[in-house]
Amino acid sequence: MQNLRWGILGTGRIARGVAPKIQAAKGCEVVAFASRDPARAAEAARESGLVEDADASALEYDALLERDDVDAVYVTLINSLHAEWCIRALEAGKHVVCEKPLCATLAEARAIFDAARESGRVCVEGFMHLHHPQSQRLRELASGAGSPIGRLRAIRCFRDVMNTDEYILSTRLSHAMEGGAVMDIGCYPISIARFVTGEEPGDDLRAEASFSPPRPGETGRVDETCRFSWTFPSGVTFEGGCSFAREHRVLLELEGERGTVVSAFPFSPDLDVAEPLLVNGAPEVWNDRGDKFTHQFERVALAVRGEAEVLLSPEWSIGQARTIERIHSQIGLRFGGQP
Ligand SMILES: NC(=O)c1ccc[n+]([C@@H]2O[C@H](COP(=O)([O-])OP(=O)(O)OC[C@H]3O[C@@H](n4cnc5c(N)ncnc54)[C@H](OP(=O)(O)O)[C@@H]3O)[C@@H](O)[C@H]2O)c1
Repeated sequence: MQNLRWGILGTGRIARGVAPKIQAAKGCEVVAFASRDPARAAEAARESGLVEDADASALEYDALLERDDVDAVYVTLINSLHAEWCIRALEAGKHVVCEKPLCATLAEARAIFDAARESGRVCVEGFMHLHHPQSQRLRELASGAGSPIGRLRAIRCFRDVMNTDEYILSTRLSHAMEGGAVMDIGCYPISIARFVTGEEPGDDLRAEASFSPPRPGETGRVDETCRFSWTFPSGVTFEGGCSFAREHRVLLELEGERGTVVSAFPFSPDLDVAEPLLVNGAPEVWNDRGDKFTHQFERVALAVRGEAEVLLSPEWSIGQARTIERIHSQIGLRFGGQP
């Protein structure tokens, strides 16, 4: 069977880092790179070593969508361009994986999946860690049925980092580019909590944040640190947060009636560490710690061929966008053309 042929929109850090992982995915190959500046696309193509003729494989965004030899598009642009380019790619008949977060608002998420339905194409939000077997294991441990921690009572999950990298902060702290801690890193704890429970946050969702100063040339500010909490309909409570300005703390805790699961690597399940998960204090050892991005692209290729369901459904990503919008609303942050 012919490989799914991927074109990559954007030539930033994630685009360049993930290109070889797409190539390594069964049933996938990278055939084109696109940038606002075709010279940068050619440089990314050459650097990747994945295409024979780097110049012929390097395009502007629009031109990549017109290429008949591109079946699927990996959207790696700044957050504020995700919805527009997902929709344009889907309307051009391409399947899409869009980097997290798919978008900032419920309305945009609905528009993206309307476009996917109308074009009959697959569109998946790129939460790569959820595609790794460790996240499947977390879901089993959270399910209560036969779990060594018993019935799940509470989830705590944080992603705090001390970020001083000006390249990163120039986009992550930009209001115009739809940055902020929740968009960039808070979406991970939210994704884990919603994924392992399969539930949506209840009416008691609360959030509070501290804000960074506006970026040069901007007036809008974004959240630098945010804390959020809610109760799921099953009664499981969730406490989470994210920060660009706090000491490093990446942590997941699942608290059950009879024990706990703790992980310092919930978003990096493919790191080769001795204790990826501690279940009631004992490390679980994994034999297959395959790359999380490769797992993701393999699953999407299977879904495109009709051999598997997508792992993250349209409804799941619409729920993710709704949750982000609710948190933003609580902290007074508006994006995506919201009034
Ligand atoms: N899954 C993960 O582990 C992970 C990790 C990091 C980032 N991400 C996500 O991936 C996306 C990109 O992150 P990144 O770290 O790769 O960022 P980045 O290095 O800044 O790349 C973003 C790309 O967007 C394009 N772009 C279009 N308009 C732009 C503008 N006005 N200013 C700056 N760039 C613009 C640029 O590509 P051209 O100049 O070539 O057009 C740029 O290279 C974000 O949504 C982020 O949340 C995911």
